[in-house]
Amino acid sequence: MTTPRHRHRRTDSRRMVAVVGGFAAAAIAVTLAIPAQAAGSTLQAAAKETGRYFGTAIAASRLNDGTYSGIANREFNMITAENEMKMDATEPNQNQFNYSSGDQIVNWARNNGKQVRGHALAWHSQQPGWMQNMSGTSLRNAMLNHVTQVATHYKGKIYAWDVVNEAFADGSSGARRDSNLQRTGNDWIEAAFRAARAADPGAKLCYNDYNTDNWSHAKTQGVYNMVRDFKSRGVPIDCVGFQAHFNSGNPVPSNYDTTLRNFANLGVDVQITELDIEGSGSSQAQQYQGVVQACLSVARCTGITVWGVRDSDSWRASGTPLLFDGSGNKKQAYTSVLNQLNSGGTPVPGETTGNPTQNPTGNPTSNPTTPPPTGGGSCTASYSEGQKWNDRFNGNVTIRANGNISSWTATVQLQNPQLISAVWGAQASWPAQRTMVVTGGALGSGQSTSFGFTVNHGGNWTWPSISCSAS
Ligand code: G3I
Repeated sequence: MTTPRHRHRRTDSRRMVAVVGGFAAAAIAVTLAIPAQAAGSTLQAAAKETGRYFGTAIAASRLNDGTYSGIANREFNMITAENEMKMDATEPNQNQFNYSSGDQIVNWARNNGKQVRGHALAWHSQQPGWMQNMSGTSLRNAMLNHVTQVATHYKGKIYAWDVVNEAFADGSSGARRDSNLQRTGNDWIEAAFRAARAADPGAKLCYNDYNTDNWSHAKTQGVYNMVRDFKSRGVPIDCVGFQAHFNSGNPVPSNYDTTLRNFANLGVDVQITELDIEGSGSSQAQQYQGVVQACLSVARCTGITVWGVRDSDSWRASGTPLLFDGSGNKKQAYTSVLNQLNSGGTPVPGETTGNPTQNPTGNPTSNPTTPPPTGGGSCTASYSEGQKWNDRFNGNVTIRANGNISSWTATVQLQNPQLISAVWGAQASWPAQRTMVVTGGALGSGQSTSFGFTVNHGGNWTWPSISCSAS
């Protein structure tokens, strides 16, 4: 759990961001704002100091291995089922669902105070036999039924779902991958997202893929264009997962932070979802450090998950790609990840987990500047708490222009089960139940404007996250 002490420390960091504004300066300010004694001694503790999670894939069959579950429990606070929630596992026969192994992992995670990433609702691979030879309308309906049933079963227990996995082709086309699902019509992905949203409105909905790390690659561009299109048409997508399986033939790209930032600027969270890097020693450690650094530099990179605990647990065990060796010892890569996490990073908006009653000052806090997608000025969104009641609280947002801007868009993201019951000073739209988008017109450099709202918190006092983009 986040302690009040942690909350205050992060609040201080964010206040410094408000003062300095730009990204490069913000990163420095945050680093300075975190005192030496704040260093986390585990991956999850260190990540939490930056408002992020650190997760691992878990195999149900290994949970009774004490070394394995001991490391997993100590180091990680986000859990992904490596295979147990996939289509072949959860619906082995059509309309006969089997959640036993998936439930085992979800229950272990929840009993140990961890969150869960759901993986994966719709995928061309690991389909059950009955689905593999289906096509057309019957396949489309079977896929949608699967999404609905599985997301409903886990409703309220999933932080984020990989709704669709690996739907783009490798190579230079930037096009969709051919598959039986793709042949049901190009809209199959958005149909899956809409079904998932209807089944579990509280879960973040992600598109997840591999080989999308290098900004200049056609596949990355293809996924980016799809996400941009989804956002422009109101398709319910909240996040993009970057699997991040690296090796010597597919090294960590030097433009990784650019990729993450450009996707985040579309108005989605980004998450590193299946990280592993083949290799050993300082070379492996440096690459891990680079990935963590890239995520920490992007405010909406909300967490990192490694794809397994020990090298011997990995799907690529011979490549020794993980943070613990086969005996469970911490590797050099572990230390570099921990140190990088402890060096601080751009805070995740809204992840101050602030219980408003415990903020001693009530002073405004601020989110880091989000650069606009194309040239011109940018804007900073600052959140300050207002009145509080047992069942609701007020929030105020100030939008400040950094340079001249012709328009701004603020996105207010609530946490489950919060709902906004009133808005003033702005015209709002609702692309999703807990996402409010507020737009405004031109502001001169240094000018600001503000709006406010009431949140029926349902017991969750977490401050909403606010981001701002300008054109
Ligand atoms: O459990 C059975 C075992 O009973 C049987 O004897 C054995 C014989 O082949 O198979 C075992 O199941 C294997 C399972 O892993 C558990 O080890 C499957 O064959 C094997 O296909 C499966 O591989 C998984 C792979 O996805 C399947 O596509 C890997 O564990 C898993 O790490 C991997 O994860 C994927 C992500 O879901 C998506 N991104 C890529 C990533 C790596 O491929």
